[in-house]
Amino acid sequence: MRQSTLVIGIPVLVAASAILVSAAMASNTCDSTDETMTAISYSEHGPADEVLTLKSDYPKPVPGKNQVLIQVKASSVNPVDFKLRRNSVPDFLIPKPKIPGADVAGVIVQLGANLEKAANFQIGDRIPNEVDFESAAALPLVSLTVLQSLKKLKNPKDKKILIHAGAGGVGSFAIQYAKKVLGMHVATTASKEKKEIVKDLGADVVID
Ligand SMILES: NC(=O)c1ccc[n+]([C@@H]2O[C@H](COP(=O)([O-])OP(=O)(O)OC[C@H]3O[C@@H](n4cnc5c(N)ncnc54)[C@H](OP(=O)(O)O)[C@@H]3O)[C@@H](O)[C@H]2O)c1
Repeated sequence: MRQSTLVIGIPVLVAASAILVSAAMASNTCDSTDETMTAISYSEHGPADEVLTLKSDYPKPVPGKNQVLIQVKASSVNPVDFKLRRNSVPDFLIPKPKIPGADVAGVIVQLGANLEKAANFQIGDRIPNEVDFESAAALPLVSLTVLQSLKKLKNPKDKKILIHAGAGGVGSFAIQYAKKVLGMHVATTASKEKKEIVKDLGADVVID
């Protein structure tokens, strides 16, 4: 049987075009109206306690043709959120004001024009279906990163993979996906203290 080895290196980029949902920090509070929502945003880069502001009358986003608007039920802090907030990024890359919160889980409340007749998106659908919102909110960017990295792999069962930094957010998802979904032989790197964790996730070989 032919075997080849793949490496997931870091850093890995996530293509923005693959993110289908437009996430709104929509509110469940009575401050929210049909046109507004409660949101935390920033207009200048800097430390959280200096630049983040909470507004209850933030305009609700309107979904683009191929987007859905979701009411956020849970969110987590992805490193990209605080790295983009802290460091100066030109407005053409990150238009301001910016609502942080790249990782979210919630319920579809509005469909873009092209999706109104699509059978696979309905108002009221949960994003996602089978896990609770809090757990799901930790998954979007790490899972997209892994799925995009591995989706073109042909005959993954015949292959070995080396996943760097297996105990991290991306690495821990990658180990489980490569082992349990794709059936690959998985080697990973991790510090001594994390060895048992990555083995429990499914790593066959752990390199300290
Ligand atoms: N998180 C995302 O959604 C996302 C999306 C796209 C791309 N990325 C990129 O993917 C990479 C990993 O992100 P992450 O969120 O998974 O990070 P993370 O959760 O902070 O994990 C980073 C891991 O890197 C390992 N590490 C740190 N310093 C190291 C060193 N000097 N030598 C070897 N290993 C070292 C640590 O291993 P031990 O715990 O074993 O010490 C840690 O578990 C980053 O470059 C990030 O920019 C992340």
